[in-house]
Amino acid sequence: VSIGDHPIRRVSVAVPARVNLIGEHTDYNGGAVLPAALPIFLHVTLAPRAADRVTARTGSVRLQPDGPRLQPDHREWRVTDERPRGDWTDYIQGVVCELRRAGHAIRGFDITIDSDIPPGSGLASSAALQVAAVRALAEAFAIRLDPMDLARLVQRAENTFVGAPVGIMDPVACVFGEPRSALHLDTRTLRFERVPLPASLGVVVIDSGSSHAHATGEYRKRREQCEAAARALRVTHLAALDAGTAPARDAIDALPAPLDRRARHVVTEHARVGQAVAALRAGDLARFGALVDASHASLRDDFEVSTPDIDRLVSIARGTPGVLGARITGGGFGGSVLVAVEGSRADQAGAAIVARYNPQAALPARVVV
Ligand code: GLA
Repeated sequence: VSIGDHPIRRVSVAVPARVNLIGEHTDYNGGAVLPAALPIFLHVTLAPRAADRVTARTGSVRLQPDGPRLQPDHREWRVTDERPRGDWTDYIQGVVCELRRAGHAIRGFDITIDSDIPPGSGLASSAALQVAAVRALAEAFAIRLDPMDLARLVQRAENTFVGAPVGIMDPVACVFGEPRSALHLDTRTLRFERVPLPASLGVVVIDSGSSHAHATGEYRKRREQCEAAARALRVTHLAALDAGTAPARDAIDALPAPLDRRARHVVTEHARVGQAVAALRAGDLARFGALVDASHASLRDDFEVSTPDIDRLVSIARGTPGVLGARITGGGFGGSVLVAVEGSRADQAGAAIVARYNPQAALPARVVV
């Protein structure tokens, strides 16, 4: 059976979650990031159909590791429809619109999502969904896409169709991420190198249980403040400033609050990424842990994207045997905590942190990885 030239067949695609080791809120400031793929996945299955209609369904979507699953949900629309609805299906409709705008012929299809990546947990569930949808569409409709163009297309869809002003890190991490190595990505040139993670480094990711949203509010505000700071400092992007030089530091200190704090976070965080890569390459885990801690302090005090619950989780993590450093990871305002830990003690550390945090917590935290 075929539609035009396309044989009808089902395609299945799996895309991993990512955790950003360090380099937070630098990706829309031309800075460096260091995400790594996690061994939890979002799967889509897609089958083209003859009519020009799309049906998107959730199969089994976990809201939290070992936690409840999303109620089955579905929506149907015409493939030419360009109106967002304001729900999860916008991620699929958005990439369809972008592919069609780029001149690719997309017909109707059925798509089902099964996912172990908790939505809103700061682990790039939305980028994973969009990357998986584009890959499946490309395979089903015989579209050739360069992988970096795929990542750019996903960012564009999320910026324009979904309306979330996110950077390029998550789609790049979901497209190129591999287990046990991190991507040291320059978000200005989109060049990256793979940094192997030392076998002695354990990475524990703990979902705080409180989820975030980037389409509204504070994420957008941070981005606008960074742009305002760059304009005031007469640079095209904040990462162009060198945190190590006195003139740059003085110029940042002279900005009106809170732009001074926002800019300080970005330039110091950008510098920390380079230092963290050097520490990982040298196997200096203590230094890596100290940089992770410094990143959290900067995100909490200068960028102000942490929450009291996350701060408590981070401080419990730091007091746990074997832990090298801990910080909020992802966009902030909830989501997950990254704990760098001596590899042999990772399982015990994760369990101990959650056991100490949960009795006084409004929402239970859970170890994701
Ligand atoms: C979210 C966005 C990314 C990045 C991070 C913060 O995950 O999707 O583009 O800005 O927040 O580092």
